Amino acid sequence: MDLKGQVALVTGASRGIGAAIAVLLGKHNARVAVNYAKSKDKADQVVETIKNEGGQAIAVQADVRDNSAVKTMVETTIKELGPIDILILNAGADVPWKAFMALTFEEFENKVMGELKGFFFPAQAVIPQMIERKKGCIVGISSGLSRHPGFGFSAHTTVKSGVDGLMKSLALELGPHGIRVNTVAPGLTITDATSWLPKERIEGTAKATPLGRVGQPDDIAGAVLMLVSDEAKFVTGAYLPVSGGVQMI
Ligand SMILES: NC(=O)c1ccc[n+]([C@@H]2O[C@H](COP(=O)([O-])OP(=O)(O)OC[C@H]3O[C@@H](n4cnc5c(N)ncnc54)[C@H](OP(=O)(O)O)[C@@H]3O)[C@@H](O)[C@H]2O)c1
Repeated sequence: MDLKGQVALVTGASRGIGAAIAVLLGKHNARVAVNYAKSKDKADQVVETIKNEGGQAIAVQADVRDNSAVKTMVETTIKELGPIDILILNAGADVPWKAFMALTFEEFENKVMGELKGFFFPAQAVIPQMIERKKGCIVGISSGLSRHPGFGFSAHTTVKSGVDGLMKSLALELGPHGIRVNTVAPGLTITDATSWLPKERIEGTAKATPLGRVGQPDDIAGAVLMLVSDEAKFVTGAYLPVSGGVQMI
């Protein structure tokens, strides 16, 4: 799974799942642009980790909900690392964990529209040069909750169902241009985004999981690497749950 000569842009890569993806792609010789919104220090640490393992990486700031910041980020990446071969759409918006009737429309809209903007803008900024070069690979990070709702996660389930639909549509439209598009759906994975969950909830999920534990960011990164590698050259439009078997489709 050598990605030598390829450039990857990973959105939301300063922490959690995105950071693990950036490090693993770097370890497999991709030149990596590590996107962050606020955590410059953490993004710089991810870049250092990649460089310490002999790879090449840069940190690129952009709030992915801001189209003009995204365009600048893509231009910087192309200028400093070269044309983008791999785009990982990972950055998510915060999840208001509330029963539907307690949710305000503003909270719902911020989550749903914020996250969709963060997929739409980077995809539209990167795809033209992929079409021009007749190659490219996109992975969207969804969630197991896109197909199986969880109490208090209505906004999350709504936007991740949208992400699944968008990724399938891109797979259809971009396949003729030599671009593959797939979806990875993590189960519960231990990151800053889930650290607030009660211990019993994490233990309960681990118990219900055939592989007997919850996910770690590098579990998700491994599945992404598999999909972007040439070994998956005939895989597009797929939805891959990465959950230790707690979600089977
Ligand atoms: N953890 C889970 O159990 C789980 C399960 C299913 C799906 N997912 C999905 O996996 C993805 C990553 O989640 P995570 O758990 O790794 O989250 P996390 O640990 O909270 O990390 C979030 C990352 O996204 C970045 N980010 C947030 N908003 C951004 C914005 N507007 N523009 C650019 N970057 C932004 C953050 O950057 P800063 O540090 O700069 O703020 C950070 O690098 C999300 O799409 C999430 O929905 C997670």
